[in-house]
Amino acid sequence: MSKPYVIAHRGASGDFPENTLLAFDEAIKQGADIIEMDLQLTSDEEIVVFHDRTVERIFRKYANKSIADFSLEELKKIDVGSWFDEKYSYLRIPTLTEVLEHLPKDISLILEIKIGEEILVKKLIELLEEKKSDLGKGYISVRDIQTSNLVRKYSDKFKIGLMQKNRTPEEVLTIIRENEVQIAQIRWEKWSEIKWEFLRNQDVKVTVFYADKIEDYVFLLKKEVEGIFTNFPKKLKKYLQTSKLSS
Ligand code: G3P
Ligand code: CA
Repeated sequence: MSKPYVIAHRGASGDFPENTLLAFDEAIKQGADIIEMDLQLTSDEEIVVFHDRTVERIFRKYANKSIADFSLEELKKIDVGSWFDEKYSYLRIPTLTEVLEHLPKDISLILEIKIGEEILVKKLIELLEEKKSDLGKGYISVRDIQTSNLVRKYSDKFKIGLMQKNRTPEEVLTIIRENEVQIAQIRWEKWSEIKWEFLRNQDVKVTVFYADKIEDYVFLLKKEVEGIFTNFPKKLKKYLQTSKLSS
């Protein structure tokens, strides 16, 4: 077995404003193997990179408004950095096109579809084909099987990771086997030994979110997971470089 991939959750989001080109550049500098980001659609159907359902936390105004309430032109006027630190007030919300054009061609990405609308999925696949991105070691991340099916309607080329949410390991496994899903992406903290052993015995690839503490890294390294989502890629990378695999 090999060591898990370092997955930069929303970029190097512990040190820089999440889901920005700066956070992605810094994730690469910090040694991340894969960069994760969240996708949503604007009112004029542009794919932008943004996490929350409403914009209030990041924009610091517009309570209850969502990304779909804004056109791309409107969004580009808003700074998405100063909520983190005033010195980042120059940062703007990136489109997925900008991200794919900005980052190195061989970068590995996990692209999470936040809202599984067909138009977003269709545009995503078209864009990845146009930019010749195969996502490398990454995959398209979905929250439900309907979205996974939409991805498969437009392409069988990309790996898919299904978020575990409240499903049991048995349910995750059934969905994976029946729907051309390759990865179980789990919120690991509440998992018991029994759940870990169950999936390990099925030989399923597992990625886990999130882990930012050394004690978490120690625990997860023993679980032989495929990748670990972290907000501090440099910290995880350093730990993995100095750690030994148990078997
Ligand atoms: O994809 C793992 C993780 O990103 C899912 O949670 O809410 O941070 O997108 P969230
Ligand atoms: Ca995410």
